[in-house]
Amino acid sequence: MARPHIEPFCDRDVSFKNMNLSGFGNGMRFKMLSLDTDSGACSITVQFEGGYKQNPGFSWSEMEMIVIDGELQYGDHTIRKGHYLFVPAGYAMPAISSEQGALVLMMYNTGEPSHVESDEHHALAQVGLHHDIDSYMDIPWAMGNVVKPSVAAGCLIKLLNYNPISHAMTFLYCMTPAFYQDNISYHDCAEESYHLWGTSWMMQFGDVPTGGYFWRPAYINHGAFASELGCIALGRVDSKLFNHFHYNPWSTPVQNQDRSAARLYQRDPLLYKWMVSHSHNHPHGPEDFEQNVHRHDQDKVSDGKTHSHWHGHDHDHHHD
Ligand SMILES: [Fe+2]
Repeated sequence: MARPHIEPFCDRDVSFKNMNLSGFGNGMRFKMLSLDTDSGACSITVQFEGGYKQNPGFSWSEMEMIVIDGELQYGDHTIRKGHYLFVPAGYAMPAISSEQGALVLMMYNTGEPSHVESDEHHALAQVGLHHDIDSYMDIPWAMGNVVKPSVAAGCLIKLLNYNPISHAMTFLYCMTPAFYQDNISYHDCAEESYHLWGTSWMMQFGDVPTGGYFWRPAYINHGAFASELGCIALGRVDSKLFNHFHYNPWSTPVQNQDRSAARLYQRDPLLYKWMVSHSHNHPHGPEDFEQNVHRHDQDKVSDGKTHSHWHGHDHDHHHD
């Protein structure tokens, strides 16, 4: 099961709990924002107490982190408010400590929080994917129209991470003071956001204040939006972000999904036809992940037709 819809939620309304998982240091406290109870993947607000120390080591899960407040020592570097890290699974991080304490947002994307003490990366770690940056100081704001169709002017973004296979993205976004957008959105991807500072408003869920958070599965209506004084937030999507805009506040997620399928039919009619008419529209297992599949180019099938496709399992193909 994927994560449930969490919205509205504000982490300031709940208290910290002690992190008791092995490998982490004493003085790490967390608030659970959203959790996939099957995989353990989760997003958490973490308070590292002053004096916190953690030995070098890696996680079994991909992890992203942004410093909300305070300072952390990350190996030789002091990282502060706005510093973002992308840490692939199995990547051995240097020692981490905090003299005065730090508040951070941590996202364990593929499994539960874990820390295995090690000076070396795991043999299978995709080490080159690691990157980090001071997102407040070292990246300029860009127009929000890099995603089509565009959000209204006055919503700016800074891209922090992009997965070229899944099109998953992590980004900062900023609503400028007096921003508003009057239409309603939904997407084909799940969407997550944490308000680092400031308040925005949404027609369906009300105010999202500092510390406000949502995990929103695909096809859920959201918007109109507004922000009186502006806000800055970290956003994340788990696959390709397309803004389906409309003005019907009563449409259901199933109706939104159907409308998206109709759009796919118009945009890529052959792809749509292939999906729905070749018995491929069944749930696929983990063997279908792109890295593991093999390509059958122009397989001859019994009726003499040729076709080409990707898959990693045996099954019948029905042609009419
Ligand atoms: Fe959205």
